[in-house]
Amino acid sequence: MSQTVYFPDGFVWGTATAAYQIEGAWDENGRGLSVWDTFCRQPGKVRHGDTGDVAADHYHRWREDVGLMAELGLKAYRFSVSWPRIIPAGSGSVNPAGLDFYDRLVDELLARGIEPFVTLFHWDLPQVLQDRGGWPNRDTVYHFAEYARVVGQRLGDRVTCWITHNEPFVVAILGYFLGEHAPGLQDPVAAFQTGHHLLLSHGYAVEALRGVTDRPLQVGITLNLRPVHPASDTEADRQAARRLDGVLNRIFLDPLLRGRYPADVQTLLGPVFPVLEPGDLTRIAVPIDFLGINYYSRTVARHDPDYPLIQAVQTHPEGNEYSQMWEIYPEGIYELLTRVREEYDPARIYITENGIPVPDGLDFDGRVRDERRIRYLRNHLFHIHRAIEAGVPVEGYFVWSFSDNFEWAYGYDMRFGIVYVDYETQQRTVKDSGRWYAEVILRNGLADGLQ
Ligand code: FCB
Repeated sequence: MSQTVYFPDGFVWGTATAAYQIEGAWDENGRGLSVWDTFCRQPGKVRHGDTGDVAADHYHRWREDVGLMAELGLKAYRFSVSWPRIIPAGSGSVNPAGLDFYDRLVDELLARGIEPFVTLFHWDLPQVLQDRGGWPNRDTVYHFAEYARVVGQRLGDRVTCWITHNEPFVVAILGYFLGEHAPGLQDPVAAFQTGHHLLLSHGYAVEALRGVTDRPLQVGITLNLRPVHPASDTEADRQAARRLDGVLNRIFLDPLLRGRYPADVQTLLGPVFPVLEPGDLTRIAVPIDFLGINYYSRTVARHDPDYPLIQAVQTHPEGNEYSQMWEIYPEGIYELLTRVREEYDPARIYITENGIPVPDGLDFDGRVRDERRIRYLRNHLFHIHRAIEAGVPVEGYFVWSFSDNFEWAYGYDMRFGIVYVDYETQQRTVKDSGRWYAEVILRNGLADGLQ
């Protein structure tokens, strides 16, 4: 099948990154420690003992990076602010050098015609706050609101688009339930309380941001969402899929966009369901200007009575196509978008992340031929376009990621960038996917449809 598809005028074409994954400079200019600095130093937590100490050295190479973004014709750049650079102890004194860094970055982006999308929290909680209990401690909510206000006051005169949190699911479940991410705990009570506090702090942060300027800001939150399919047609597997959908998707979508937790999830979680205070749900459901969705894959669920709490596990059916991390399932983004539109009807949606790890390398002639990434991105864009045609208000798309970077527990093993990074020299090379994306942006569409 081959056909040309064009995106709506003004469609926002971008790439995304996160502070800890690219910046490096972990101990420079007054930056405090984050939970990821600590986690990476625990033996066995991150592949090869990798850390974000240097990462893609973006803290020193930001001007060159923005230059490359401009060359590619990017309309927008989504990055995150490092909380421990701004408020090293999590609360209290502000580090001016931290604010200066993002201030310069924003100016450079705007000078190049690139719209900044600022994420306030992409997982790097100040370690000091973790030492005081981290996200399960309700005080962290108020500290986050204060941090949002500080960043908003400095950048709110120029930054219009704000994302409070990135993927609360991953912080809560991988960080506090499975222990695969910082802070590395395995405590279901703490995990679900974390989820609730992240949402609550989102509500407070939206309010804080709107209070810093009279300019109309666009404020939203980014969720990682997946369609969940049953592994078989049995009632048991269908119920398992429903439960996983509950804890992956609805436990975040429902409070944010409907002002309540789903009743079946509350029953399922029973004693580990979070403690709420009166007014929390109203605060969480504060109207947002957009919903950010990160899409990578789907989940296939099988009933498993031995799995604690949710009695369901994810399976990986044979015969499907996989990347180094996940199943490749482009049609899932159409399914997801139409569902979110039908069931939750957000004002607008940005795909704030989508991408694939590919074991890239430089070829003899210095090119990186990451054809598999091109195919992945193209096929996902094709299905996003279908969703737009079906009436889903998707207004932009951000490739994960601008450059190769520190992929959390996988360390530097996974390369997600459309720009290759040689970690020895920190030299950047635009991959074939980067050049392909530049063409997509230029023509505001896909010339070659689905492949
Ligand atoms: C998402 C994260 C992002 C990156 C991609 C691959 O879950 O938001 O930081 O690691 O996965």
